[in-house]
Amino acid sequence: MGGGYSGAGGGSNRTYGGYLGLHELLSLQREDEGVSNDEMHFIVTHQTFELWFKQVIRELREIRDILATEHVPEAEVPKAVEHLGRVTEIFRLLANQWKVMETLTPQGFLAFRDGLGTASGFESYQMREMEILLGLEQVGRVSDMDPLGHFRKLATRSEADAAALARLEATLEETTLESALTTWLSRTPIMGSFYGSNKDDEIVESYVDAHLAAYASIGDAASARMEAQGVDNIEAVKARFAAASQGARDFLKPDGDVNRARAGLLFIESYRELPLLAWPRVLIDAVVELEESMVLFRTYHARMVERIIGRRVGTGGSSGVDYLDATTKYRIFGDLWGVRTILLKPELRPSLKNGDIYGFAGDGTD
Ligand code: HEM
Repeated sequence: MGGGYSGAGGGSNRTYGGYLGLHELLSLQREDEGVSNDEMHFIVTHQTFELWFKQVIRELREIRDILATEHVPEAEVPKAVEHLGRVTEIFRLLANQWKVMETLTPQGFLAFRDGLGTASGFESYQMREMEILLGLEQVGRVSDMDPLGHFRKLATRSEADAAALARLEATLEETTLESALTTWLSRTPIMGSFYGSNKDDEIVESYVDAHLAAYASIGDAASARMEAQGVDNIEAVKARFAAASQGARDFLKPDGDVNRARAGLLFIESYRELPLLAWPRVLIDAVVELEESMVLFRTYHARMVERIIGRRVGTGGSSGVDYLDATTKYRIFGDLWGVRTILLKPELRPSLKNGDIYGFAGDGTD
């Protein structure tokens, strides 16, 4: 590494080790306690994960702050996308890092596992901070697990643990990325109609109804085709299509009223080619990619754990692999995944109105 470290406000007499705090960092692997090579590897792997978690938390707050602005300036959306991309790459890196952990054999782990006591990744407060910031709620977690429950117990043990709890409690009060994104989506211009404008409710509802009608008709056409082909158990097939149609209605009009954020999301996904929707579409893709990378990170952790400890109870007392596998079902951005089920091919979507406001020559009618 060369050059001065002007960004950190230091002087030109700084050293590499001094700037990075290497002396402190490299003294934190318990070598003074005589740990084995295997155990040091276990510690270094955890520490590197936690360092990356720290970066992810900073990135998530920055993305959230951009999206939580009332009128997100257009130039800021690409910035949010860049930061999302960085988080995704970090999770991809971490998903691969489990491979390094897997070089620890079951016997190698058993040799020092008892020394861990009840210490477990379950106590990673940075993991919980990331989840809370993203918007993972208590309901929806495995067994409705209270993410702070464990830390309340730990907080009595030391000042550092009390500070970790305080940080998590403060994070719970913050706007989540999911909620900032939902608010941002709800302001999407739909069929040329702006949020809060005169007749907006009417225009949006008519768009949603037209989409739902087209969606129902493809289900009807598909079940008629299957009936003509003599598919077995046609009544069950028809019921499945009817349930899909009802599912689309419940998604877009829960309790009978249009959910404008979901309608906006549907509109962006349906008319992906519109120039004005290009960045929103890229942003949505980036969030989906981020969540996918996090799900894979969880999945690879579970596989690594299965390989090293089989189906043992975890040091944190959970069911171990079963618990970790259950966490791979989490979807924080459920709407972004859900909308995929109800998309239509371009020829079947409602025809675009007021296309000119999206920088596109649509049919121009309204
Ligand atoms: C030999 C290596 C490892 C084993 C056997 C292992 C095992 C487990 C088990 C069984 C759990 C479930 C909770 C429990 O009952 O303890 C867990 C949770 C967790 N582990 Fe690991 N782990 C290993 C390495 C790592 C590493 C290197 C990290 C990096 C920070 C990590 C992070 C986590 C996190 C964040 C959780 C909480 C997951 C959640 O609640 O969603 N683990 N681990």
